[in-house]
Amino acid sequence: MNKIPLAVPVIGDVEKKCISEALSSNHIAIGPHVKLFEDQIANFLGAKNAIALNSGTAALQLMIEASDLTKGDVILVPSLTFGATVNAIIHAGCEPCFIDIDASDLCIAPTSIERFISERCHIADGRLLEKETGKSVKAIMIVHMYGNVCNMALIARVAKKYGLEIFEDGTEALGAKFDNVPLGSNSRFFALSFNGNKIITSGGGGMLLTNDSTVADKVRQLAAQGKSIHDPADIDFVGHNFRMPNLNAAFAYGQSLVLANHLERKQIIAKEYNARLGKLEGLSMITSAPDTWGVFWMVVFRVDPKKIGFDALRLGQFLADAGIETRPVWKPLDTMLPFKKFLKGELKFCYDVYQKCICLPCSVNLEIDEINYICEKIENLITE
Ligand SMILES: Cc1ncc(COP(=O)(O)O)c(C=O)c1O
Repeated sequence: MNKIPLAVPVIGDVEKKCISEALSSNHIAIGPHVKLFEDQIANFLGAKNAIALNSGTAALQLMIEASDLTKGDVILVPSLTFGATVNAIIHAGCEPCFIDIDASDLCIAPTSIERFISERCHIADGRLLEKETGKSVKAIMIVHMYGNVCNMALIARVAKKYGLEIFEDGTEALGAKFDNVPLGSNSRFFALSFNGNKIITSGGGGMLLTNDSTVADKVRQLAAQGKSIHDPADIDFVGHNFRMPNLNAAFAYGQSLVLANHLERKQIIAKEYNARLGKLEGLSMITSAPDTWGVFWMVVFRVDPKKIGFDALRLGQFLADAGIETRPVWKPLDTMLPFKKFLKGELKFCYDVYQKCICLPCSVNLEIDEINYICEKIENLITE
């Protein structure tokens, strides 16, 4: 068996044709594929505004810059996420406050948000302030982790109760649904990523979805150096160069035409793994909650060392020796040097999950034979 990678892009003739169209027309920076791609994703999800950008991180940063938040405001964010989520918060001039996750779906736990607010914050002059530092808590950045869906009903309830803005890092969850409604279709601030290993890719790229046309206009301007809509020779405010180049948009547009197929493949792959490994005592697949539809950007299994005698790290090493690439789940960010100084609530499950969970290969072209090979290796290790 050849080496099995964790998640590689799968690029077909459709995408190649789109890229070659962009190249042969010389539309590599600005061009028609950007709008084609934006419209395609907006239609697929039912979103009102879609703005293509050069990364998911840019989408996260711009959503904060386009909001009412100001310098130094605190954003509650799960500690278990990719560093980009928190880097974007800091680059936008705000501060993260790390909150625990729910071990069942690895998404931020609404109960942990409530606990942090009720134990550590108070309201003064109509503002929610962290008691010790007096810092103003203004928003929650939720992350639909590994394609699982946050409990939007509970998140919305807690956000409304305390007047908090909701930012959604949906970079790992393109196509996921809550209550049968696609994520991002009715959000004020929702970020997507088209990085190389995402459900669809543009090489590198991202997108901001918003149901608010004022936010959409502001984000478009922020992404294009703050250039005035009325006079492009003029600049209204300090902006960035965050637009998606047409060459990447052509690639992404081609991928968006096969998105439904990629989503279907992810479901099949997760189902195959679960049918085989889910039976084993001490191994369980992490899935999205029952009233949601997760997309398995990553197929994540929890390993119970007490039941099977080894932890996720050992399993990863063993599979690496068999030519199978895996990855641990995100390392909790609050433990890392650049982020240690920031506020945090009580954290338990993000550390626990970091020891116990592992991401298994899940490229959309992963063959059933390969899944069987991986499962067989794991079964052998357990019964050794
Ligand atoms: C949770 C999370 N947030 C943000 C990002 C950043 O996206 P990008 O790499 O497109 O900047 C990623 C992926 O890379 C991610 O997994």
